[in-house]
Order: sequence, then structure tokens, then C-alpha cells
Amino acid sequence: MIKIAVVGSCGKMGSEVVKLTTKEEDFELVCAIDKFGAGQKINNIEVLDDISKLKDFDIDIVVDFTQPSAIFNNIKQYQEMKLKAVIGTTGLSKEEIETIEKLSKENNTGIIIAPNFSLGAILMMIFSKMASKYFSNAEIIEFHHNQKKDAPSGTSIKTAQLMMEENKNFKLGNCPEVETIKGARGGEYQENNEGNIQIHAVRMPGFVASQEVIFGSDGQTLKIHHDTINRECYMSGVALAIRHLYKNNQFIYGLENIL
Ligand SMILES: NC(=O)c1ccc[n+]([C@@H]2O[C@H](COP(=O)([O-])OP(=O)(O)OC[C@H]3O[C@@H](n4cnc5c(N)ncnc54)[C@H](O)[C@@H]3O)[C@@H](O)[C@H]2O)c1
Repeated sequence: MIKIAVVGSCGKMGSEVVKLTTKEEDFELVCAIDKFGAGQKINNIEVLDDISKLKDFDIDIVVDFTQPSAIFNNIKQYQEMKLKAVIGTTGLSKEEIETIEKLSKENNTGIIIAPNFSLGAILMMIFSKMASKYFSNAEIIEFHHNQKKDAPSGTSIKTAQLMMEENKNFKLGNCPEVETIKGARGGEYQENNEGNIQIHAVRMPGFVASQEVIFGSDGQTLKIHHDTINRECYMSGVALAIRHLYKNNQFIYGLENIL
């Protein structure tokens, strides 16, 4: 049995992970933590309020779906406790991810950070990376529910990073541009002054999570589009990450690295 703690257990994603632990025969939920859901009972387990309490349990893997403002500090605590963690929470900066990689190696404590656990979304990213070689311009539009706290999404940033591995110099400013409404052209993703991928974030009720990557060159466009219909779609990826981390002890950023 893989003994699992869910942090953010009362949230939209955390409660799906709790359900997953009951469905999978080799998973056992041993601890549930949620800052704002403490005192409730989930599967006969009392929800605790603070991740410092993880140290009182025998845990193989922590799964964290909390919030962008908490995640870096949470990860530092998992590392201090030498707990392997699967991180779904988004909002980590590039510098923070680099620090976590260092910590994970120093502590010899594996961690998987995946901005997206949906296999369809991973394929969208891989196909976008493949297409990047052949087009001069690219822009990303991502669509999410209106409760999402960070923008742009972790998935759109990860997609842009993968695309840049194939093409560091997409064109922008094909002609002189004037924004008559600030932000009309979206936010520009760049690394070391290279990249030039505009990201546009839409937030409204009705969406779960969707993304379209649009490529253009003379006389043609290519659109790669993925829709998430409900949050169950993430769970096969979460299960894959839990089983992988249980058997291995590495730092991994992106589910595509263990498919
Ligand atoms: N990686 C993926 O595939 C994927 C998919 C969907 C959402 N997300 C991300 O997962 C995160 C959670 O999303 P959600 O829709 O479930 O949000 P949510 O607001 O529904 O749930 C978050 C839960 O975490 C709890 N929480 C917040 N801070 C905490 C802390 N410091 N300690 C303990 N509990 C804390 C809240 O009380 C809440 O119940 C977001 O960052 C979101 O972008 C990732």
C-alpha cells in the first residue's frame, strides 16, 4: 500500500485526489490537511489545519493542491521533513523551481511538480513543441474558471518553455504596434530576452481549463486546442506520478518526463 497525505484536501482538486485514494487498490489515505477545512471528516479521517502535523504520520507520498501563495513554503517544509511530494499547485516561479531542484538533491528527497496532470494537455504541449520548429509566430490563449488565482496558468508557461526549446526567436512586432487598451496584446513570455510568445488569459464561469496554441507563418495558421471537461481528467496523471515517485527518488518538473 502507498500511504498518501492530501494537502488541500477540501478543495476542488484535493477532493478529487481523496476520491482517487479510495478507488485505487494500492493507495491508502492516511492524512488530510486543509487550512480552511480543519475539523471536517473525510473518509473517517479528521482534516487537520497545518502541514507541520504531517510529521506525526507514516507517509510515503504527500499530494499538494493548495494555492500559489502557499506552495513554495509548503515545499520547503516537505523537504525539511524529507517527505516525497507530488505537487499540482501552480504559481511557482522559474527561480523557485530551481531552488526546489537544489533542495531536493541536497535532501535526497524526490519531488514531482506538474503544472498539468491531464494526459491530453501533456500531448498538446508536446505537439506544440514539435510545431515550433516550423512557424515564425506563436501565441497562446488559456481559458480558466473565474476562481483561479494565478495568471497566466502554469500550463501556458510550461508550454512556452517547451516551445522555446525548439524555437527561441518567434517574431513579435511584425509592424509597429500601439496598444490603445493596455494589455490588449497579452503578456509576453521571455527568457533571457528571447522567446516572444504572447500569452492571453481568459477567466470566466463555464470553463474548467482550456488552452489553444496558435502558430502562424506566411499563408497558414495551425491551432492546437485542448479542453478539460471536468477535474477527473487529471487523476490518471496524479496516480501515475504517485506510483512513479513511490518507486523513484528524483526531482521531476513536468509529467511528460515520466510518460
Ligand atoms: N497540476 C494540475 O493539473 C492542476 C489542475 C487544476 C488545478 N491546479 C492547481 O491546483 C491548485 C488548487 O486548485 P483548486 O481548484 O483545487 O483550488 P481550491 O481553492 O478549490 O482548493 C485549494 C484548497 O487548499 C486549501 N489551502 C490553501 N492554502 C493552504 C495551506 N497553506 N495549507 C493547507 N491547505 C491550504 C484551501 O482551503 C482549499 O480547500 C491551484 O494552484 C490550481 O491552479 C493544478
